[in-house]
Amino acid sequence: MDIREQQQPEGLCLLLYKEREMVGECLLAAPGPQGAHIARFRVEPAWRRRGYGTYLMRQVLRRTGGFDRREASLHTAPLPGGEGALAFAARFGFAVRDGQLERRRAPAPSAVGLTHEFLKQRLGAGAVCLDATCGNGGDTQFLCELAGPSGRVLAMDIQQQAVDNTNARLAAAGLGGIGRAVLADHARLAEYVQPGSLDCAVFNFGYLPGADHSLFSTEATSLPALEAALEALRPGGVLAACLYSGGPNGSGEKEAVLRWMRALPLTGYTVLVLEFANWADTAPLPCFVLKNV
Ligand SMILES: C[S@@+](CC[C@H](N)C(=O)[O-])C[C@H]1O[C@@H](n2cnc3c(N)ncnc32)[C@H](O)[C@@H]1O
Repeated sequence: MDIREQQQPEGLCLLLYKEREMVGECLLAAPGPQGAHIARFRVEPAWRRRGYGTYLMRQVLRRTGGFDRREASLHTAPLPGGEGALAFAARFGFAVRDGQLERRRAPAPSAVGLTHEFLKQRLGAGAVCLDATCGNGGDTQFLCELAGPSGRVLAMDIQQQAVDNTNARLAAAGLGGIGRAVLADHARLAEYVQPGSLDCAVFNFGYLPGADHSLFSTEATSLPALEAALEALRPGGVLAACLYSGGPNGSGEKEAVLRWMRALPLTGYTVLVLEFANWADTAPLPCFVLKNV
């Protein structure tokens, strides 16, 4: 089976071929990375009930973001005639709404996604930020985009590979003028940032994805780094820390950081812990410390 694409006046047509024979087609109006309007969907009668429709619909959804767990997506289609077609659409999550079929997906919650959503509420253009564990640069890039050209982002990591990946990522995204990564242990962050100068400090603890998993952050350096980050925050600033447990890093760091956060004085700080309450105990744990004004 293979899919051939054909641009038509009404949109992009995906043609499903079995060997030389076309067995189905789907016309997509306005296809994009986060959805499409499925203007026409059909499988030739002789080829129905053999899984070709399922294959074609999966391809449509895959190509237009319908299975992307990180982004929202919306697919629509005209109401089909028969019960069978409705049941087929329902298997893929389509429901009847406002006289058409609709399939709406919200991003699945993730610790990093929730952390970014929270920071978006509190930070804006011109923000001065620290990414204390830059890894492959995902958080650094997010902070640079949020801070914009009038902001500044310093990123740190103890692994050269992480520093290089982050700087390359920023350069590729045209953000090199806003952020930069340096090779440094975050326990030394006071040497890089002035007290009271940061709007935000982000710690995404653990190991570097795609690298040696036996190199991970531990409470021995995480706790001094967190202390130093609070010093470096301005009043009203926010510290975000994502804690991990299980696997090679065990639970020592997570427990030690939680104890430290819970002991912070109420007069100076507000601490939020965002638990995935019905996930395993090893679920990532996004935490926030707000420095009171
Ligand atoms: C989960 S990764 C970070 C992911 C990253 N923020 C991203 O968006 O790709 C954790 C990183 O923390 C780094 N790290 C561990 N201990 C550190 C320390 N003492 N100082 C600075 N970075 C450290 C690791 O090298 C690793 O790259």
